[in-house]
Amino acid sequence: MMFTTVRFWTLLLPLLIAVAATAAEPDLVEQGRRIYVEGVRVSGQPLQATRDGTVSLSGPQAACMGCHRASGMGSVEGSQPVSPIGRRYLFAQEGDLVMANMDGRRGKTLNQTHAPYGDETLALALRQGIGIDGRTLSAVMPHFALDAHDMSALKAYLQQLSSDYSPGVSKQTIRFATVITPDVSDARRAIFKAMLQSALVAKNSSTAPRKRYMSSAASFVTQTERRWELQVWELTGAPQTWGAQLQQHYRDWPVFALLSGLSDSTWAPVDAFCQAQQVPCWFPSVGVPSAGAADANATYGLYFSRGVSLEAAVLARELLGTHNAAPKRLLQMQASHAGGVAAQAFDQSARTQGRNVQSLSLAADAGPSGLRRALQQVRAGDAVALWLNAPQLEWLAGMTPPSGVKFYLSSSLTQASTTQQLAPGWRSVVQWVYPYELPHKREANLAYLHSWLKLRDLPLVDEVLQSEVFFALNLMTDTLQDMLDNLYRDYLIERAQDMVSKRESGKAEQESRDRHTLGRAGRTVVNAELAHGSAIADASSAVATQRRAFALGDSTGTSIYPRLSLGPGQRFASKGAYIVHVSADGALVADSDWTVP
Ligand code: HEC
Repeated sequence: MMFTTVRFWTLLLPLLIAVAATAAEPDLVEQGRRIYVEGVRVSGQPLQATRDGTVSLSGPQAACMGCHRASGMGSVEGSQPVSPIGRRYLFAQEGDLVMANMDGRRGKTLNQTHAPYGDETLALALRQGIGIDGRTLSAVMPHFALDAHDMSALKAYLQQLSSDYSPGVSKQTIRFATVITPDVSDARRAIFKAMLQSALVAKNSSTAPRKRYMSSAASFVTQTERRWELQVWELTGAPQTWGAQLQQHYRDWPVFALLSGLSDSTWAPVDAFCQAQQVPCWFPSVGVPSAGAADANATYGLYFSRGVSLEAAVLARELLGTHNAAPKRLLQMQASHAGGVAAQAFDQSARTQGRNVQSLSLAADAGPSGLRRALQQVRAGDAVALWLNAPQLEWLAGMTPPSGVKFYLSSSLTQASTTQQLAPGWRSVVQWVYPYELPHKREANLAYLHSWLKLRDLPLVDEVLQSEVFFALNLMTDTLQDMLDNLYRDYLIERAQDMVSKRESGKAEQESRDRHTLGRAGRTVVNAELAHGSAIADASSAVATQRRAFALGDSTGTSIYPRLSLGPGQRFASKGAYIVHVSADGALVADSDWTVP
C-alpha cells in the first residue's frame, strides 16, 4: 500500500510541475512578445538600447520586430543583413538544415548555421553584441538593457517564434483557398475559376515527384517544391453571414493563405476574417477591399489598390485641383454597396479640399426611371460622379445627357471592359477614373499573359481581372520559391512587401531588354526561357511549356498597373489613377497624368 502511494507521488509530481510550468508559459511568451513587438519590458518600462555606442533607442524604436520582422526571419537594412532569429535559427541543433534567402538582390545568400544559443550566450549577444561564435556583431544590432526577467521572457518568445510551419502547410503540400462573393456574374466567375484550375494543374504537373523541376540548388536541398491544393469557397447570402461561412470552411480545411479572390460588391467581411485568423489574403480582384477604419492595424491583406475609394479620391483631386476650373456644384449618384463606398470616399476627399458634395442615392433597382428623376436635379456647370456598376450602366441607354454637365464613371465599378459599351450619346460627356495603365502602354506588359492564355486555350474575357489573377498566381510562385522552407504566414507577407517593388522594376527592365534584343513582344518569353532556364514558353513552344507548366518563375511579372510597390507594413500596391475619355473612334485617351491623391 505504502509502496503504491510513493510510486503514485513520484509519478505525479513531475507531472504536476510540468503542468504548472506550461500554465506559466503563455504569460512568459506574452511578456516576451511585448518586448519583441512593442518594446515594453516585463516591468512595464520602455525597452532601452544603444546603437553604435551612442545613439539611444527607446520603446517601439528599439523593439526587435523593427529589424528582425514579425516572423523573426530578418531582413536587409541597407546592405546589412539582419539575421533570422526564430526558433529554428537561434536554437538549431547540429544537423538541422535551415536556410534563408537573406537578400533577394544578391541571389540565394544562405544563412550559416551556428551552435544553439543558450541563456548566457543569448544575454551576451543582446547586452554586449557578442555572437555565439565570439564574433562582435555588427554595430547595427543595438545593445539592450535587459534584466533576468526580460531575458527569460524574450527567450520563451523566441523559442516559439516561427518554430513550425503555419497551418495549411505540410512537407509535401500547401493549401490555399480562393473566395468568390455571390454578386459576381457568371462570365467573370467562370473565367476566374478556369484560370485558377488551369494554373493549378500546370503547377502540380511541374512539381510532381518525377517531374520535379530543380529551380535552384537551395530549393532542391530544402525540398521546398510542394504540391498546391486549392479549394474554391463560393459564398452565398448576405455579407453579414460570410464571416461564419468562412470560419466553417476554414475549420474543415485550414489554409495557408487565400490566393486571389473575386468580388464585385464588398470584400470587407473576407478581409476581417483574414485579420482575425491571421490568414494572408493575397491580391484578390476586388473593388472594396476592407472596411477602411481597421486598416491601421491590418497586416494580413495585400491588395492591388484601395479600389473604388482610391478612384473617388483621385477624382476629387482632379476636379478640385488648382489647375482645373472648379465645377459649380459637385453631385454624385450611387445605387449599390460598392457605389456607396465610392460616394463616401468622394465626399470625404472633397470635404478635405473645402467642398461639399450633394449626394443622391438611388435604390439598387431604381432603373432608368429612377436615374432619370435624379438627373432632373442636374444643371449646366455641374460635375456629376455616377458611381454606377456594370449592369447599371445600361440605365443610360435611351436617355439624353443634360447639356453643359460633366459626368464621371469608375472603371473598376463598371469593370473597365464596358468602357466601349457606353450609350453613344453619353460618350462625349463622360470621363472615367482609370486606375490601370493605358491600353497602348500595357500591351507589351501583358504579352506573357496573352501567350499563356492562348496556350491554355482560355479566352480573354476581362483583361483587368485576368491580368490580376495571373499576377497574383505568379507572385505567389515567386515568393514561395524565395521563402525556401520557411513557410510562415508573417514571412509570406514580409517577403511580398520586400519583393513587389524590386520584382516589378527588375522584371520590367528584363522584359524591355528582351524586347529590344528580339524586336517582338511575343518572343520575350522564349528569350527569358533561354536566359533563365525557368519560364513559361510562348505559344509555339508547347513542349517546354509542358515541362515548366505554371511555374512561371523569374521571367514574368509586370501587370496591368503602371507601378506596384509595397513597403514594410503597406497593403495597397498601386496608388493612383488616370482620368480618361473614349474618343469617337473608340480609343482611350488620357486627360490627366497618373494622379496619386
Ligand atoms: C536596429 C536593428 C536591430 C534591432 C532593433 C535588433 N536587432 Fe538583432 N540583429 C541586428 C543585426 C543587423 C544583426 C546581425 C549582426 C551581425 O551578424 O553582425 C542582429 C543579430 C542578432 C542576433 C545574433 C544572431 C546570430 O545569428 O548570431 C540576435 C540573437 C539578435 N539579433 C536578437 C535580437 C533581439 C532579441 C532584439 C530585440 C530585443 C534585436 N535583436 C533587435 C539588428 C537588430
